[in-house]
Amino acid sequence: MKSQLETQERLIPLPVQVRGSRGFFRLDKQTALKAPEQAEAVRAYFAARVKRATGFTLADAKTGAQGVIRLHVNPRRDARLGEEGYRLRVTSRQVDLRANTAGGLFYGVQSVLQLLPSAIESDKPVRDAEWRVPCTEILDYPRFAWRGLMLDVVRHFFSKDEVLAFVDQMARYKFNILHLHLTDDQGWRIEIKRYPRLTDVGAWRVPRTGDWCSYGPPEPGEKPSYGGFYTQADLREIVRYAEARCVTVLPEIDVPGHSLAALAAYPELSCGGGPFYVDPGSIEMARLYGVIKSDPRPSKIPANVLCVGNDGVFEFLDHVMTEVAEVFPSPYIHMGGDEAIRRFWTECPRCQARMREQNLKDEKDLQSYFVKRLARIIESKGKRLVGWDEIVDGGLAPNATVMSWHRGGRGAVEAANLGHDVVMTPSTHCYLDNLQGEWWLEPACTSRFFRGPDHWRVLRLKDCYEFEPVPDGVDPARIVGGQGNLWTEAIPDFRHAQYMLWPRAMAMAETLWSPRAGKEWASFAARVERQFARLDAAQVKYSRALYDVRLRPRRGKQGRLHVALETDADGLDIHYTWDGTNPDPFYPKYRGPLVPVPGARELRVVTCRNGDPVGREIAVPVTELENRAEKAETARTSQ
Ligand code: ACM
Ligand code: ZN
Repeated sequence: MKSQLETQERLIPLPVQVRGSRGFFRLDKQTALKAPEQAEAVRAYFAARVKRATGFTLADAKTGAQGVIRLHVNPRRDARLGEEGYRLRVTSRQVDLRANTAGGLFYGVQSVLQLLPSAIESDKPVRDAEWRVPCTEILDYPRFAWRGLMLDVVRHFFSKDEVLAFVDQMARYKFNILHLHLTDDQGWRIEIKRYPRLTDVGAWRVPRTGDWCSYGPPEPGEKPSYGGFYTQADLREIVRYAEARCVTVLPEIDVPGHSLAALAAYPELSCGGGPFYVDPGSIEMARLYGVIKSDPRPSKIPANVLCVGNDGVFEFLDHVMTEVAEVFPSPYIHMGGDEAIRRFWTECPRCQARMREQNLKDEKDLQSYFVKRLARIIESKGKRLVGWDEIVDGGLAPNATVMSWHRGGRGAVEAANLGHDVVMTPSTHCYLDNLQGEWWLEPACTSRFFRGPDHWRVLRLKDCYEFEPVPDGVDPARIVGGQGNLWTEAIPDFRHAQYMLWPRAMAMAETLWSPRAGKEWASFAARVERQFARLDAAQVKYSRALYDVRLRPRRGKQGRLHVALETDADGLDIHYTWDGTNPDPFYPKYRGPLVPVPGARELRVVTCRNGDPVGREIAVPVTELENRAEKAETARTSQ
């Protein structure tokens, strides 16, 4: 039992079946690595990972080899494994990995690497590590075929090398889709040879630093110097690199809304004619999308939608999709489709003429007309269309796959019940741009964007782990999988992107790969803690908000404030103060709900393990606790 735990504790996502046994396989410079021709790429990947961290060259035929690592592609299909599953057997003499496909072997190799010590993540040889794999038997295959992460490379731009690093890291947790959000109001990031202005003009905006959604528009004569784009050669390199890691790159061209960058380049595609500028994250854009509830003034941004009344728009999209389809082997192209502001079409004579010509009763129908016509274009390139929820409005295109992000999954249920495939990415559980803990503890670039208290959105690791992709009342066969989305309005650089991604993407990975019945928070949380050492070794930034205290203020009897404190991770003690001093293990330990001492202005709490502080100190004014207790009371009584 202990050896089984020893094995399980190292693995995320948790395999379908793990059996542990005593002993270890020792990997050293004598170890041989054997693989058939079909698995050459996987062999080379594994050998390179091992060489980098250990300095050992694992060769095929080794004289005097003590141990052997063998990869096999099953000559006869093993029905339990499907396309991506594997069986792994580790004894003290050999590591035996079998799968139906090279892809299955790749996932098996990820498990072997996770069973090695965290120093295997080092990019330089580590001399004093003991390279042992615990003896085990594993049967494993994924629950869902679509296990995605989305990276928004528009709101902030990430270099080709950063995208490659992103792919490298996601592959460790058995994700298989990288969705690149390539176009939006704030930039166009893919070279389209027929339309050079898309990147000459559309990839650049005026530089701004500080709070997204608060910036002014470009000053007269100001140079648009922030941005960048990927050449088609860059993208082909990303695709190849991802392919070698069993990751398919899904390109998103977000139309007909979110199109300001394209319109800055080609204003003739718009309803109103512009002039347009590439948006730098302006307050006007925030107004346009209704983000500033307290300030409903109309936005000065001109119509940022493509004109559906203009046949030239469809010609443009046809040419764009031709080039997109040539660069990306993905069977899907994502057309965005979210948040098109339909009132711009109401105000456009050409869009209105299109509605009359096509007998469309409203702008929802016009949007559906656009989606269906674009679906035919995408299909003419041999691809299938994916779009955000809004493509359901006014009637779905045949064969469209819906990526469901909001409206409580209503779009998902509607689409699935009509027989469409659905990818679940509800903003409540899958939006990895949300904060990971109390907003004043989180990096200001992010917390100020979600400025509270009505606005900040928190997605803790535990809540992210509770995501269940199959909504009630839906045929599970229609839910092809799910995805974590990293929108980057408030993520100005790659280190911060890593911080927002990890460890929450591990929760997504386990939800999408592991059997539902085996999911258990306490087990997952303990395994995440072990992964931290691997992220440290890999020099990847991550959040330790898992160790923070959760505050649960409530009204007790006679309306008095009671503050319950909780921790998501096991084995933590909470220490607290009311007098403004910094708590440590020598201060009172939390044993049950607290009542503020008279005159106290703030509560300070910290978590400790074995006498050492591990969480962040949280200082919270008593007035804030009162407010939250009030809100909790209102929520309770209005139920
Ligand atoms: C989205 O979050 N607008 C898809
Ligand atoms: Zn129009």
